[in-house]
Amino acid sequence: MKIFLDTANLDELRKGADWGIVDGVTTNPSLIAKEGRPLEEQVREICRIVDGDISAEVVATESAAMIREGRELARIHKNIVVKAPLTREGIKATAALSGEGIRVNVTLCFSPSQALLAAKAGAYIVSPFVGRLDDVSTNGMELIRQILTIYKNYGYPTQVLAASLRHPMHVVDAALAGAHIGTMPFKVLDQLFNHPLTDKGLDAFLKDWAKVFQETGAVR
Ligand code: G3P
Repeated sequence: MKIFLDTANLDELRKGADWGIVDGVTTNPSLIAKEGRPLEEQVREICRIVDGDISAEVVATESAAMIREGRELARIHKNIVVKAPLTREGIKATAALSGEGIRVNVTLCFSPSQALLAAKAGAYIVSPFVGRLDDVSTNGMELIRQILTIYKNYGYPTQVLAASLRHPMHVVDAALAGAHIGTMPFKVLDQLFNHPLTDKGLDAFLKDWAKVFQETGAVR
């Protein structure tokens, strides 16, 4: 599973990129607004930090304007994937942009029927929101499984990006389901490292080592 960071914060992206395990970035209007810089400027910086697919979302709601915005976003950098919402206008824009060879991430997907439409429109990525479905007492991970089955049935090449992942078990379950990509906040990526037995084991290894090779002055 590819790991994407779901943030527009440059410090978080630098830290994640330093670990060498970040394959891409997803942003949305809320995340860009949080950083307080114009979208184009922020996205350019992000492209300098992470060499992978970088999703940048249109804010227009009518297809002609979405298409114009999508073309502009795609011109910023070769790694930009244009993000469009799963509305009627968004799907129309997705079909048009995909027809021009512009890669589109169809976002705000909450049902398998919506995901089918995204694939039909030629989306490069579809983003089902797991956590937000869990928030309304619906099994978000089940949606990931359903979409993967539908896409497999017909050989759709659209990648399934599990979004709105809120904790490590969401990441594990997305990987078990076979999601192509999981996008997560920096905090969740950081949590994936943690295991008390790793800390305990390393502590013991280093103490044993120090006892023989440092305290006695012996050289290994
Ligand atoms: O990638 C979509 C993500 O930003 C939504 O996450 O936690 O706001 O539902 P959340």
